[in-house]
Amino acid sequence: MSERDLCWMHKPVCVKELATFFLAPDDPISRTMIAEMPLLFSHAERIDSENDAFFLFRVVDQESLGTEGFCLSKQSKRPGYVISGQTTKALLYGMYRFYMICQSEGDLKDDVVSVPDQPIRMINHWDNVDGTIERGYAGDSIFYQDNAFRRDFPLIRSYARQLASIGVNALSINNVNVHEIETKFITDFYLPDVKMINDLFASFGIRLFLSVNFAAPMLIGDCTTADPLSAEVQTFWNETVANIYQYIPDFGGFLVKADSEGQPGPFAYQRGHDDGANMLARALAPFGGTLIWRCFVYNCKQDWRDRTQDRARASYDHFMKLDGKFDDNVILQIKLGPIDFQVREPVSPLFGGLKKTNTIIEFQITQEYTGHQIAAYYLAPTWKEALDFDTQYPGAHTVVKELIKYRAVDLTRCGIAAVSSVGMDANWTGNKLMQVNLFAYGRLCFDQELSADEMLREWIALSFSLGESNQEILHHLLMTSRETYVKYTTPFGLIFLCKPHLHYGPQVDGYEYDCWGTYHHADRDGIGFDRTIKTGTGYVAQYSDPRCKEYDSLDTCKDELLLFFHHVPYTHLMQSGKTVIQALYDSHFEGVAQLEQARIDIEKIRSELDPCVYENVRERLEREYGNAIEWRDQVNSYLYRKSGIPDEHGRTIFA
Ligand code: GCU
Repeated sequence: MSERDLCWMHKPVCVKELATFFLAPDDPISRTMIAEMPLLFSHAERIDSENDAFFLFRVVDQESLGTEGFCLSKQSKRPGYVISGQTTKALLYGMYRFYMICQSEGDLKDDVVSVPDQPIRMINHWDNVDGTIERGYAGDSIFYQDNAFRRDFPLIRSYARQLASIGVNALSINNVNVHEIETKFITDFYLPDVKMINDLFASFGIRLFLSVNFAAPMLIGDCTTADPLSAEVQTFWNETVANIYQYIPDFGGFLVKADSEGQPGPFAYQRGHDDGANMLARALAPFGGTLIWRCFVYNCKQDWRDRTQDRARASYDHFMKLDGKFDDNVILQIKLGPIDFQVREPVSPLFGGLKKTNTIIEFQITQEYTGHQIAAYYLAPTWKEALDFDTQYPGAHTVVKELIKYRAVDLTRCGIAAVSSVGMDANWTGNKLMQVNLFAYGRLCFDQELSADEMLREWIALSFSLGESNQEILHHLLMTSRETYVKYTTPFGLIFLCKPHLHYGPQVDGYEYDCWGTYHHADRDGIGFDRTIKTGTGYVAQYSDPRCKEYDSLDTCKDELLLFFHHVPYTHLMQSGKTVIQALYDSHFEGVAQLEQARIDIEKIRSELDPCVYENVRERLEREYGNAIEWRDQVNSYLYRKSGIPDEHGRTIFA
């Protein structure tokens, strides 16, 4: 694939005429719309009279739409459509939605009113200025090359349009692990570049954020400390922020990873994370800026011998006691689960736990533990599960997607963020099929009632020209892809059986005698991490009473998370009626069998796929298949050698 793939906006919709009324050419978003229309709609002619207009944009006064909601309707007295909203940003979203509806359904059949469910819908890039991307699987960074900004504006523009088309409205452009050069992004030397990128994204309604280094006052300023309570440190940040806003008046703010995996933070000065976050937030507040502070804080130098420690407890232990202590422009960004983007984790107990703090839930689109974009892994079911999770605390709002919003101190400061999956590969995501995750991410942030199934159907219709039965085949392959991957890797709540640091491919004991707090505790009798109250680490007690009881008891803990919460004998009978050991063997065999079917299915739809797309998908699937066999055989052999229990069905397990 040499030409850059246009993702889900590659076929223009044919409309009769096009009018651009009510778009002010001096407004950057209006200018974007004027430039976008000929790309989205073919045979578009600009016409001069509103009376003849086929297609009208209308800025209306309708409070219920907020600043980003829009309406799409057919004109009542003549053929054509009206897109209305209170701001040009809303009109931009409406225009893209109209395009997608026409593309996937042929026409706008019913009126649409759409108001985003979350105010912040963000993408976090973990891109480094040397061009590499931490946990990136689609080539180098689109922003940087050789320790400088790449300045490929047409490329960045086409990325911005993709993000805007699905409603993403915030973006951080550098890694949360902020290295030496990136620490200087907040200085005069780099700010002109940051401004250029900012202005480009702003013209698509996207606010720009930078990840900053907590130790910057010492590294790039004259301070002798980075203590958040020191006056010189506050002054450093006040001046630095004021300077940033001189360049970029609409700058979004900072994203911070502190006291985590080697990053500096307030702990070095015996200060709390509230002190660290509030100090930065106070520098940003006069300019309307936001401070996003990550809760991914844990001891990564744990002693594996010490069974009382539990990494899963860490975020809650650190942050619950600070609830209510953060300034209004601080948001805590919390990973979906308590560990780290595993194939299945329980939802972080901070959701529901925190009652007086703005929060963002953090997802990962880049497939760090989910197959490196070699494996097909449709992530929307995972995200839906998290957003729909009922924490079962008493009160009006108990479901995660509601809690993010309704527990916020500032209703405009909460939402969803996800780690980016794109890079310089011509198809953006390495595996063409994995464009679906970027698409579904944005769609879901905007409209949380969409099902994983609907978003997938929409993406398939927009991205390919497949007949109905082939659409079904591809739909089935992707809809089952998560379970396929879970089955052949880490089912039933197991985590981190992967190769250390790489996080791809199996190495069952790779992390078992290490410092990262990610253990499976398999011995000759059983497997699983005991997080129960009586015999384990007590992590379950971080949930609401009903959820705590459910997870704590072997009678009610669901099979899918059993080994996350319990250490059980291999002969323990699961809710499925199988013993744990048999269920583990079966799962690994089934996962590989599902991929065998996927290989057959791709051949069935081959004739309707672009040859380059087919080759890309086939090549990835073959690699995934080989990897799955390795997982099946290594995990099954490991378990057989530990337990000595043979497979009931006598299948090959390498003793
Ligand atoms: C994971 C990942 C790191 C990343 C970290 C984070 O641990 O492996 O590369 O820096 O998450 O979320 O900060």
